Amino acid sequence: MAGTTRTIHLPSTRPTTPALWLTETRLTDADSIFNILTCPNSGPKIYRLTGTIPNPYSLENAHTFLQTMADRHAANERVTTFAVRLDGETSPLVGVVGLRTVVLDLQGEGGAISRAVAEGVLTREIDGGKAVEIGYWIDGDLEGKGIGTRIATEAVRIAREEMNMQVVGCCFEENAASARVLAKSGLEYRGMVQGVKVRPEWGPRNLRVFMG
Ligand SMILES: CC(C)(COP(=O)(O)OP(=O)(O)OC[C@H]1O[C@@H](n2cnc3c(N)ncnc32)[C@H](O)[C@@H]1OP(=O)(O)O)[C@@H](O)C(=O)NCCC(=O)NCCS
Repeated sequence: MAGTTRTIHLPSTRPTTPALWLTETRLTDADSIFNILTCPNSGPKIYRLTGTIPNPYSLENAHTFLQTMADRHAANERVTTFAVRLDGETSPLVGVVGLRTVVLDLQGEGGAISRAVAEGVLTREIDGGKAVEIGYWIDGDLEGKGIGTRIATEAVRIAREEMNMQVVGCCFEENAASARVLAKSGLEYRGMVQGVKVRPEWGPRNLRVFMG
């Protein structure tokens, strides 16, 4: 199912958990993304624990990201990158969760996925060629309320039920919260890939690989 817009309401599961909305990203989300990714309580941690977010992060980076998403929506591509919102579907963005097609080139860039395939951490399922990689981050002020688990669980459901895709999740060895989120979202721990060069400015890092 392709579609230019998409809203998913995840109601509170108990009084202590917030209701969540997953929607398409919007050009008007730039300030929220910029503020979170440059906030001392969120930005450095998100940079340290993810592989693709530019550092330092500029408002221009946010505009570029959102324009890319808007172009995909305009082309009627399926929405696979969602804004996370509290307090209604038009409320400010507080996080992002996305699914991106995994590149299965074993001779490729030596990234975590190709290394995992080459080393047998990921095996025949991925050789079938149908997988997406999950990624997410949330505002650091909102951690520990179950939001990460719920957005990842919904993204895994979308991948499996609506896209008929298996899901790969990778997190750095030290990212215990994300490892827990990936496991609770229904993925299975497959093993560790050691010494991956994730960003040019970093030394090699170890990644835990999940799939399901
Ligand atoms: C990863 C992230 C999304 C988690 O979001 P969250 O809303 O705090 O996650 P949840 O509240 O749903 O669950 C976190 C789980 O990790 C556990 N956890 C948190 N910190 C932990 C730690 N230091 N050691 C062990 N477990 C930890 C929590 O106890 C909880 O598990 P439980 O429900 O079994 O008790 C959030 O921390 C984040 O945005 N981090 C920066 C970006 C990032 O790491 N992205 C993922 C890249 S792979």
